[in-house]
Amino acid sequence: MEIRGKAAVITGGGSGIGRAVSERLASDGASVVVADVDSAGGAETVKRIESTGGHAVFARADVTSEQDTRRMLQTAVEQFGRLDILHNNAGIGTGAPGYPLVEPERWHLVIEIDLQAVILGTGLAASIMEKQGGGVIINTASMAGLYPHRQDAVYGAAKAGVVNFTHSLAVWSAEKNIRVNCVCPGIVDTPLVRRGLELAAQHGLKSWMPAKIIQPEEIADAVVMLIRDDSLFGCALEVRPTGRHVVDPRPAPGTKR
Ligand SMILES: NC(=O)c1ccc[n+]([C@@H]2O[C@H](COP(=O)([O-])OP(=O)(O)OC[C@H]3O[C@@H](n4cnc5c(N)ncnc54)[C@H](O)[C@@H]3O)[C@@H](O)[C@H]2O)c1
Repeated sequence: MEIRGKAAVITGGGSGIGRAVSERLASDGASVVVADVDSAGGAETVKRIESTGGHAVFARADVTSEQDTRRMLQTAVEQFGRLDILHNNAGIGTGAPGYPLVEPERWHLVIEIDLQAVILGTGLAASIMEKQGGGVIINTASMAGLYPHRQDAVYGAAKAGVVNFTHSLAVWSAEKNIRVNCVCPGIVDTPLVRRGLELAAQHGLKSWMPAKIIQPEEIADAVVMLIRDDSLFGCALEVRPTGRHVVDPRPAPGTKR
């Protein structure tokens, strides 16, 4: 899909990866709804986009709320006349002291934001996109959804859910002309990672960082690739410091794709 002239909603657009994607899509000519629970962060992203001549509005939305999610998607339709792209990107980690020591409320929230909100947002956006004849949905999973995550098993489970949800929608996605794909970043230099390291240090826990850390703009490049490449349905795009790799949805044994 060509990006210029399209309308996009980015959740978690007030920080890190979501901010980089919002800025990149706006600079490529899309009109962007920056959605976030953090009003200050969201407003800052809008300001940065407007300062370079781009189009953006802020929508305060908690992605765990159906009402907020409907309103955030409707903002694109009301402000820009359509909804072409949804990036389900908002996410949190469990944080130290980690599972199973954290309060159950915390890991429930990880599942709600990192997995359930992706399912909710995809379904609500699809009903709008279907009436328009198509669209593109990108979910932010993680390499933690493709491989075990020793420091945060609940986060890994939520992100694995996002990967399999995306793979499982491959055929549906092709039939509806609503391409659903996910991006699976390695460790990216964002406030989420910096907060996680600080919290681990406060609890005296060991943490690990790769020699080369990915920049949020590199994830924005990967998201742009998923939007532009019309041949990708239900795929996971793994982004490592050393390069990218597309993981295709594999059919279950004995079944068709
Ligand atoms: N940073 C990494 O290393 C890394 C790696 C792989 C995947 N990810 C994923 O990328 C996504 C973005 O993470 P980031 O690193 O940019 O983090 P970040 O903390 O910089 O940004 C996340 C944003 O999501 C928002 N948010 C949190 N809960 C929300 C809610 N309920 N409703 C709406 N917005 C909410 C926050 O306010 C924040 O602005 C997450 O899904 C994360 O799991 C990050």
